[in-house]
Amino acid sequence: MLKIIYSKTKEEAGKAAANIIAKQLKVKPDSVLGLATGSSPIGMYSELITMCKNGKISFKNVKSVNLDEYVGLSPEHDQSYAYFMRKNLFDHVDINLENTNLPSGLATDPEEECKRYDEVVASMGGVDVQVLGIGNNGHIGFNEPADIFPYGTSVVELTESTINANSRFFASRDLVPTKAISMGVGQIMSAEKILLIALGEGKAEILERSLFGDVTPRVPASILRFAKDVTVVADEAALSVIIEKHPEAISK
Ligand code: F6R
Repeated sequence: MLKIIYSKTKEEAGKAAANIIAKQLKVKPDSVLGLATGSSPIGMYSELITMCKNGKISFKNVKSVNLDEYVGLSPEHDQSYAYFMRKNLFDHVDINLENTNLPSGLATDPEEECKRYDEVVASMGGVDVQVLGIGNNGHIGFNEPADIFPYGTSVVELTESTINANSRFFASRDLVPTKAISMGVGQIMSAEKILLIALGEGKAEILERSLFGDVTPRVPASILRFAKDVTVVADEAALSVIIEKHPEAISK
């Protein structure tokens, strides 16, 4: 089942996405959330912080697994995803930090770290809602365009396009890590529900290709067409190509 929710602005999209998570936490306060970093979920996290501060939701019994982490960055590095999660969500809500999980960027043996993370994900007993962004090249997590869809956690070489996109957060392009540890496409697809957030016109073409083009590991997000329950929350800019080609597919 694929549902595409239209929001005029990215602020509205943040609210729409936060409402989906809030509803999930009302129904199942001990949900397992699969979390993403990057610019796309920031508005949603900020709404969730407000809801939690207002007592509307609680993360007290929530467990989380994050999609990915850069190889080589410590949790204290301000561009690490561990740092991002504390700054944008964990430090401002009532989640127990012991129930939050990310791959370790500092593991001396990243391959071993992938095995450990596979066990962490398996020990959750299933992700209830997996939050995703989408890369300009269609990546989900850091599963870059490839010949196959990887099932489990792996060490990935980031593509030039991803390194360029991410260099906006670093002082110079040379400082952007070239590798990451990412949950696999199979693990992402195992979630009960998937919530994909896409914002800005830079995502418009790849979003349309992912949701309406061929299912191929060359466009990793295209696999979401085979997921059991996918909700796409996007702003008008990210939906512009879909609005033009498939207006009937959008719920307003
Ligand atoms: C981040 C992640 C990535 C991003 C994607 C989009 O944890 O897994 O797949 O979701 O690169 O990034 P933004 O949201 O910055 O455009």
